[in-house]
Amino acid sequence: PRIVFSGIQPTGTPHLGNYLGALANWARLQDPDVVTGTSSINYYSIVDLHAITMPQNPATLRQAKLDVAATLLACGVDPKRSVLFEQSRVRSHTELAWIFNCITPVGWLGRMTQWKAKMEGKGMGHAQVLADESLTTGLKMGLFDYPVLQAADILLYKGTHVPVGEDQMQHLELARDIAGLFNKTFTNVFPKPTAIVPPAAKRVMSLRDPSGKMSKSDPSDFSRLNLVDTPQLIQAKIAKATTDGIRGVSFDPVHRPGMSNLVSIYAAMRDIEIDEAVKECADITSTKDFKNRVSDAIIVKLQPIQSELVRLQADEGYVRKVLDDGAEKAEQVANKTMEEVYKAVGLR
Ligand code: TYM
Repeated sequence: PRIVFSGIQPTGTPHLGNYLGALANWARLQDPDVVTGTSSINYYSIVDLHAITMPQNPATLRQAKLDVAATLLACGVDPKRSVLFEQSRVRSHTELAWIFNCITPVGWLGRMTQWKAKMEGKGMGHAQVLADESLTTGLKMGLFDYPVLQAADILLYKGTHVPVGEDQMQHLELARDIAGLFNKTFTNVFPKPTAIVPPAAKRVMSLRDPSGKMSKSDPSDFSRLNLVDTPQLIQAKIAKATTDGIRGVSFDPVHRPGMSNLVSIYAAMRDIEIDEAVKECADITSTKDFKNRVSDAIIVKLQPIQSELVRLQADEGYVRKVLDDGAEKAEQVANKTMEEVYKAVGLR
């Protein structure tokens, strides 16, 4: 069977980019493959150990994990068909990461664009950031090592398919390389995982600045649509979204990035192709009318997810039970892989 693994950081409420880039596929991949009929085993992890690579408030983190778990369930992750668990509850994630650390060249990590962006995002040169030893602002070892832990997440379950947004492609490539390197250095233990990226909204852009991706860490809440936003707020955010002065609806990410972002959001919300979305809106000349149409589509799509989320948040006991069961199941599989790994490396 196909072994599906993916993760999400509990660093805030999931937004439309998370949903369209990844979460919608998480639910879909629980069904057998429509073409081949291949069934799958699914592991979905709330990656709290990744979250602490940046400073987190302990109480906020604890609550965010429960909220993200409830959101995943509301988005269609089904505990009968998927193992939903908190990463830190299965100790082998860090054990396997350590073993990978001992074979992964430092240069492979230095090339990661997300690491480079974090260094540059601080408005200093590389050398200065690396020399910054202030306890609160300096970048930490864990952040540099983040992609190795991500490789361990996937490979601990011998994951073959990884549903993610486009921004994770480089990390996925690294996971493949680490799998190959381990197999070559010791014995063949790991498959090389493949990314599953949606055709349309693989990279949802910020509503304010469509040259950057929609992100949980953007200080402006109007840059993103959170899955929990009310219809009024969704309407207001889309109404304010950056577009251009050109009349009519078209898809041209280079010349009309803001418009094109809304077109792909619209297409994804309606489950139609981009061409079809453009055709549907051919008679719309005013951007205001188009924006109304986009926010209506979002509101309709999110409504059932939101009401399910309200129901689940009122039943914390259920959510905790799902996470407990998930951790137990994940651990059994993880322990088996670690036996093989320890033997291969000569630690047992
Ligand atoms: P995270 O928590 O940043 O995001 C979760 C998922 O949402 C996708 N995503 C987007 N997709 C499209 N447009 C956007 N604007 C957008 N923003 C986020 C991400 O691609 C991701 O799929 N490193 C991962 C978490 C992780 C992981 C793993 C993923 C840890 N271990 C193992 C897969 C496998 C991350 O930070 O995701």
